[in-house]
Amino acid sequence: MSAIKAEIKGIGINIPQRVLTNKDLEKFLDTSDEWITTRTGIKERHIAEEWEKASDVALPAAKEAIENAGLTPRDIDAVIVATSTPDMTFPSTACFLADKLGCPKPMAFDISAACSGFIYGLTIANSFVKSGQFENVLVVGAEVFSQIIDWNDRSTAVIFGDGAGAVVVSKSDGESDILSAVMKSDGSHWGSLYCPVGEKLRMRGRETFKLAIKSMEMASNKALQQAGLQIEDIKIIIPHQANIRIINALAERMELPEDKVYSNIHKYGNTSAASIPIAFYEAWKEGKISKGDYILLTAFGGGLTWGSIVLKF
Ligand code: UT7
Repeated sequence: MSAIKAEIKGIGINIPQRVLTNKDLEKFLDTSDEWITTRTGIKERHIAEEWEKASDVALPAAKEAIENAGLTPRDIDAVIVATSTPDMTFPSTACFLADKLGCPKPMAFDISAACSGFIYGLTIANSFVKSGQFENVLVVGAEVFSQIIDWNDRSTAVIFGDGAGAVVVSKSDGESDILSAVMKSDGSHWGSLYCPVGEKLRMRGRETFKLAIKSMEMASNKALQQAGLQIEDIKIIIPHQANIRIINALAERMELPEDKVYSNIHKYGNTSAASIPIAFYEAWKEGKISKGDYILLTAFGGGLTWGSIVLKF
């Protein structure tokens, strides 16, 4: 094990201003507030302006995270953006973001791991810092799913939203550390959730639902085991915000009271790679996460991809 510890030193988010409520969706889709609320837990989501790209949505979140870490863009050695809605096929959204931030020539690249992208990115940042390669790595989950949604498809249009969350992962001088990371994929299930280049997102919801619960539970137990911790040691779980029924089922299977599993899906819907950093930020702002707490992050998404991280904040 590396003697170097890696901590989340700063965190920031950005939520587009425009709100789309379930009632708004009722106006142009064969759906209802009642169906969406009971089947998903979502009441509203935020939608970026048409001109806004992932790097635009990411920028304020990244600025806040860097400032919150007590750093400046000049201190950032690497920029990793997890997104399924990149500005372009190439250059990477990370290159655009680094330029907008004014980071002087960092390593910059995107990750395509759908809703698991942020925790994949955090795992990579952890390894970069622990290897001694970099001191400060910016990891951003940024999505404009509104731009790949088929707004005539009620089974997906009601679920997704836009937003961004960012963290700075830095060399830690104290006790804070990223303790374990279990990252997985299974491409044989790609057809459950996918978006061909230039086309719109497609999802087989029920299939994805079942796989999500099982996979997150298995990865979480393994990550706990690798960290040498029990579930009772964890202050709060921050799961990917895909569906409140998935979150509640995960809590039940892991025998956790619901108040130990954070959710803000009612406000934002599923923001894919941005959902975990946004939830982490809000849990922290609400005083549910303090320095020294053990936190479990877990995600699941297209690929299929999934994974869990245990960290000491
Ligand atoms: O973030 C990455 C991973 N993604 C996920 O984990 C998503 C996982 N899946 C889900 O969250 C759920 O499967 C959905 C929310 C997508 C769907 O919920 P469900 O309870 O699995 O519904 P269903 O697809 O089985 O559909 C039940 C019924 C169907 O009607 P019939 O065939 O029973 O008459 C659908 O046509 O609900 C209908 N339906 C809707 N009705 C009103 C589907 N979407 C809607 C809608 N409004 N928006």
